Amino acid sequence: MQHPLIRGTVGRNVVVVGTQWGDEGKGKIVDWLTDHAQGVVRFQGGHNAGHTLVIGGRKTALQLIPSGVMRDGVACYIGNGVVVDPTHLLTEIARIEALGIDVRSRLHISEACPMILPMHAAVDRAREARRESSSGGKIGTTGKGIGPAYEDKVARRAIRLQDLKHPDRLKAKLTELLERHNAELSLLGAQPLALPELYDGAMATADIVVPMLADVGWRLFNAHRTGDNLLFEGAQGTLLDIDHGTYPFVTSSNCVAGNAAAGAGIGPGLLHYVLGITKAYTTRVGSGPFPTELTMDEPGSVGHHLSTVGQERGTVTGRARRCGWLDAAALRRAMVINGVSGQCITKLDVLDGLPEIRIAVGYRLDGRMLDVLPMDADDIARSEPVFETLPGWTDTTAGLTNWEQLPANARRYLERMEDLTQVPIDMVSTGPDRVHTILLRHPYRA
Ligand code: GDP
Ligand code: IMO
Ligand code: MG
Repeated sequence: MQHPLIRGTVGRNVVVVGTQWGDEGKGKIVDWLTDHAQGVVRFQGGHNAGHTLVIGGRKTALQLIPSGVMRDGVACYIGNGVVVDPTHLLTEIARIEALGIDVRSRLHISEACPMILPMHAAVDRAREARRESSSGGKIGTTGKGIGPAYEDKVARRAIRLQDLKHPDRLKAKLTELLERHNAELSLLGAQPLALPELYDGAMATADIVVPMLADVGWRLFNAHRTGDNLLFEGAQGTLLDIDHGTYPFVTSSNCVAGNAAAGAGIGPGLLHYVLGITKAYTTRVGSGPFPTELTMDEPGSVGHHLSTVGQERGTVTGRARRCGWLDAAALRRAMVINGVSGQCITKLDVLDGLPEIRIAVGYRLDGRMLDVLPMDADDIARSEPVFETLPGWTDTTAGLTNWEQLPANARRYLERMEDLTQVPIDMVSTGPDRVHTILLRHPYRA
């Protein structure tokens, strides 16, 4: 149904989300899809994300800037749902501009974005240090201050990017907020921070940040109604979602597709197609339950294969990612919560050479069989996956661009994934480079 305020030619909008615990390859696919989009929008998370793009063999890692930035002329938007560390933002912009790519004239940032300031990262790290010595253990956050910044937002005391336009207001808010955070830092045995450095640090970003501030929701609406195709770039993944993930081992935002609307400031009727990015196996960084996890230390083991061939090391923190078999019962939940229209299966090539491949199709818990991931993290931790085994393939899939070229058993594996999740596979990724992609149904033409 067309929005009543929109008449005539309008754009088509696609949302990209991760269906697992992040690092599914969202950045690569967003970059690939951007040749059909005029605007790319981040709507949640912050610089905890690490999205890797490989173009012509050259690797670029993005954390806060939308992955559309590598295509000339594409507008990039950071919506109100994103928490922004302005100092990090400037560093990232400088890194991309050093490649000869113009960022500042194309980047529009919502003035309503809550700021991440040094005290948020300090509190995040001090809490993790404290948790490490407690019985519950740490969450394994990225230490970027994401959780504390979202807490301030929800408590209605956040400092927003718009406050950079009003130095006196910024100072007053910062004074109050710092008192609160310093109290917690002292309680945690960490060093309190000083107001002048924090204030000067934030204000030092104002000259560059303020000109990029915009009413992003309004701009997106107008871009859409004049025919722009928009691409909404999710960060993290469904199982890290604050509500739907493996709580409390989650991030602090809603990562699901529904939040693309609220986090960008547009109506949900403007989201036309949801592309779920699913890695052909599972990985997770940080703590929390992971039913299909494999041990990775032993050379020759499947876990070791996934970790080394898949180069499973975090983009942001450099930590080794935990690896395991595909979990179709967890995916079922992700497909439903996100309303996934079609999937892109990534890193299929990493499975090349495995004699057999397993997929969890359900779990056994307290003598019962479950066909979907439980909601309670303790139940997930106690769930024993029920596996189905499929034959592997010896030929390489690396770099293939055509479905027919895939080994028969690779096609069989993908078809089984489609059966188990009941969502069509529209794309397959066979390597890190933009061109290592098989297209079955184009999200912008579906
Ligand atoms: P994101 O956070 O979802 O954007 O994913 P990351 O960039 O953190 O992690 C995905 C990693 O896998 C990156 O290093 C990508 O370059 C790489 N990658 C993406 N797709 C493929 C693929 O199909 N095959 C292989 N071998 N690597 C891929
Ligand atoms: P992309 O967008 C994978 C994980 C952290 C930790 C938990 C909470 O690259 O897929 P946080 O710093 O957000 O409070 O940490 O969430 N995490 C990610 N894991 N990919 C990500 O982003 C992640 N962003 C956060 O490791 O377990
Ligand atoms: Mg990542």
